[in-house]
Amino acid sequence: MHQNEHFDSLKQRLHNKISFLDDKPEETLDSTIKSLWFTAFGTPISCEATDSIDLPELSDYQKDILNQLIEKRLNNTPLAHLTGRQRFMGIDFICDKRALIPRKETEILGWRALKLSIELAKLKQRINIIDVCCGGGNLGLSIAFHNLNAKVYSTDISNEAVDLTIENISYLKLHQRVCAGQGDLFSSVDHNQFHENTDIIVCNPPYISGAKVKNMNPEISENEPVLAFDGGMFGTKIIQRLIVDAPIFLQKKGWLIFEVGVGQGEFIIQLCQKSKRYDSVEYLKDHSGNIRVILVRNKQFNMLVTR
Ligand SMILES: C[S@@+](CC[C@H](N)C(=O)[O-])C[C@H]1O[C@@H](n2cnc3c(N)ncnc32)[C@H](O)[C@@H]1O
Repeated sequence: MHQNEHFDSLKQRLHNKISFLDDKPEETLDSTIKSLWFTAFGTPISCEATDSIDLPELSDYQKDILNQLIEKRLNNTPLAHLTGRQRFMGIDFICDKRALIPRKETEILGWRALKLSIELAKLKQRINIIDVCCGGGNLGLSIAFHNLNAKVYSTDISNEAVDLTIENISYLKLHQRVCAGQGDLFSSVDHNQFHENTDIIVCNPPYISGAKVKNMNPEISENEPVLAFDGGMFGTKIIQRLIVDAPIFLQKKGWLIFEVGVGQGEFIIQLCQKSKRYDSVEYLKDHSGNIRVILVRNKQFNMLVTR
């Protein structure tokens, strides 16, 4: 069978059989089959990367592999775990069970943080960034990839996530400007080198409430680490700690920029305003009008701030 016919027959076979998660809009029937096709061929790429690339011809052996991958996908294995790749801010990352699969919605945070880092780089040569709750490292690494003036320290409480970040640092050849370490929130950077020395803290924290975590779609709950989602009883446990602790590490006028869950924005903005540690509070909304990213600017040196 010619490859176009083969592709069309797979589409017909899978039509109405694969379900797609709302927070992975890049996954369609076409992009799913294409990325599995490339994976079976031996050159795995993310589904977003398949756009406008011609399909290679598959051997019979590779066709068998493709069928096996499709069966796994039908059994709820996430596409990114089958291809081992997920695209974020235009870059393919290595992706597996060790950390959250980067979501498209987090690019709102990523692109804004990158823009901020480029603006700051007009004033000084080196921009120090901490990526807290780094998962597989996608936020900090994307900023470093796109902004040569950025120097990033990525950290996560999960050893497995940090291992994946280290793999992604090598994969993207960014060892000169990105390193990673394990710790609870800021604990791995809690020393002089980082105190009052950071231009931007970027964070996509876990922010799902404990009750909702229990009811997540099995494609998520059976394959992605619960630590990546569970934000405590109200979902805001880590965010609240972040707002309190970040000023210790920020330079005067340094920025904290982070993602929040749908419905959390107003409350978190109020917390930032009340804290008196920040002199500017801004936010970004998603396509549906929900506040999803908050940016706050550090007011003062922390010698004046009590924890
Ligand atoms: C929503 S995921 C974000 C992953 C990645 N930054 C991204 O945007 O795709 C949240 C991450 O926070 C980490 N995490 C949870 N609690 C933490 C804590 N107390 N300190 C540091 N990291 C934590 C989890 O292990 C997980 O990797």
